[in-house]
Amino acid sequence: MRVLSGIQPTGNLHLGNYLGAIRNWVRMQDDMSGDSRCFFFLADLHSISVHEGREQRLANVRDMTAALIACGIDPDRSVLFNQARVPAHAELCWLLNGTARIGWLNRMTQFKDKAGKNRESASVGLYVYPVLQAADVLLYQATHVPVGEDQKQHLELTRDVALKFNTDFGVDLFTLPEPYIPKESARIMSLRDGSAKMSKSDPSDMSRINLSDDDDMLAQKIRKAKTDPEPLPGEAAGLEGRPEAQNLIGIYATLADMTPDAVCAQFGGQGFGAFKPAMADLVVAKIGPIRDRYVALRDDHAALDAILEKGAAKAAEAAAPTLRGAYDAMGLMR
Ligand code: TYM
Repeated sequence: MRVLSGIQPTGNLHLGNYLGAIRNWVRMQDDMSGDSRCFFFLADLHSISVHEGREQRLANVRDMTAALIACGIDPDRSVLFNQARVPAHAELCWLLNGTARIGWLNRMTQFKDKAGKNRESASVGLYVYPVLQAADVLLYQATHVPVGEDQKQHLELTRDVALKFNTDFGVDLFTLPEPYIPKESARIMSLRDGSAKMSKSDPSDMSRINLSDDDDMLAQKIRKAKTDPEPLPGEAAGLEGRPEAQNLIGIYATLADMTPDAVCAQFGGQGFGAFKPAMADLVVAKIGPIRDRYVALRDDHAALDAILEKGAAKAAEAAAPTLRGAYDAMGLMR
């Protein structure tokens, strides 16, 4: 079993990232035994699809590194690195551009969402983005990729690329990865709109819970979260057609390690006036300690850089045989 996943170092780590992905990264890391290793990285090469100044980009990588460690990623047990320090990612991406088909990329919903109506002026990087993601996963022979629901399509493309490459060149080089998507928290929605996912790019900061928010801000965001006037149902099935209520119950359930049914059994018949203060207490209790660790780590630039350097050296070593195998299979190097 080899676990691998990545996150773009843009903006704050939010509750969607945490519950959809990072919490599972930490659990999988903690369950690893023997020589098995997890690989977690900052997808800074992916982040070039959106323009950012030099200093901001440097700061983003360090901030996200501190945030991941604060969440429980242990750089001594897992390999924690940023893509740009491991050139094999960009190299394998280029090789896989010969295998990936334009028709496959045209079907990617994330590209359509992010490019919007102005497709012609989107960067080429945004379009080719899923091929780089395939390279990220295939370089390390990853078997399990813990992600939120929105990355499922990219992982299906990764499997298609792996299968076509292996078939076209008659090799058994790439392992086909499985996405690992949590049941309850695969799609955490915006606090302002139950039909939009919680996202770093939402212009309203009130739409998301950042792992850097102070306690007052956390409580305020829960208090102001959009709801409906109905009382909570006694069973989760009664949340159907109530996206905001469903989202809040889902967040509560995931943070408390309960089922949505158990949360409904506890709060059924009560209004949001009773539920929200309990939810605010829970969010503060779970997120507060992560934020405090993050604040303590984020300014030690030298320590963060050293962690990334060390992680990159280990990652480069692990990636080298597969990259070499790809050049060899294609007849580009013997
Ligand atoms: P990114 O940076 O957008 O998000 C990081 C992780 O957080 C999950 N996520 C969510 N989960 C539930 N609800 C939400 N509202 C929510 N928002 C984000 C994402 O599914 C993701 O798991 N392309 C990737 C980064 C990447 C990658 C990879 C991931 C690059 N290479 C290889 C896995 C394997 C991305 O932009 O994630």
